[in-house]
Amino acid sequence: MGELRDGERAPAVAVIVAAAGSGERLGASLPKALVPLGGRPMVTLSLVTAASCDAVDLIVVAAPPSHVSAIRGSVEAAALHTPTEVVGGGASRQDSVRLALEVVPSDFGIVVCHDAARPFASRDLFERVIGAVDGPDGADGAVPVIRPPDTVKQLDGDAVGRTIPRESLGLAQTPQAFRAGRLREAHASAARDGIEATDDAMLLEVAGMAVVAVPGEAANVKITTQEDLERAERIAEGAP
Ligand code: CTP
Ligand code: MG
Repeated sequence: MGELRDGERAPAVAVIVAAAGSGERLGASLPKALVPLGGRPMVTLSLVTAASCDAVDLIVVAAPPSHVSAIRGSVEAAALHTPTEVVGGGASRQDSVRLALEVVPSDFGIVVCHDAARPFASRDLFERVIGAVDGPDGADGAVPVIRPPDTVKQLDGDAVGRTIPRESLGLAQTPQAFRAGRLREAHASAARDGIEATDDAMLLEVAGMAVVAVPGEAANVKITTQEDLERAERIAEGAP
């Protein structure tokens, strides 16, 4: 968090962990957030990291509606020192975040949205995105990005159209931090206008709000398939 002037209080920060997906592409017998990784449910890794940030005052987990009590069990087993609530999620990621946002008290200044499917995001990364929206000069939203190292082609089926200048590209990750009021406005107008987005920053972008990129982390991979999970298991065990 930035330096505080006399009489200025740090804004309260909530972290929403989107964990309500079914993990269809992973194809496990459990929802993805509950699949074991390094001996603990995948969601627990994100919970422990979020709770390790001094700035974070509240965590809200969006759970698969059929597995709310199982996710509550994971939260209890993690013995976090940060207050943590579990709510039933919705049919889409966007709905899950919106439902979690409803239990964040209205006086919270910053909300961070993070996917349980990215269990290796570091505490540093949480602090970096929070820092980018904190204070009078903070942005409305902050997104970690990886700049693609490869040459990127626009494709039409198998036909290569053109090469896209990669300096203008960033691959978005979570955690993403937002001024709470702006995130609420962006979700409300998206719900009103029927806009569907794959991340929260996109909802602010289409509303013309100021979103900044901060450096992401190569290790902050998203787990989608069995192959991703096997690689993640090796990382969690500390193997190369
Ligand atoms: N998510 C959510 N609510 C939903 C769908 C997704 O909270 N209705 C969350 C997931 O739990 C995940 C994140 O959004 O942490 C990113 O979604 P994704 O990786 O697509 O996970 P799943 O939707 O579970 O996987 P799949 O698309 O393969 O079913
Ligand atoms: Mg999905």
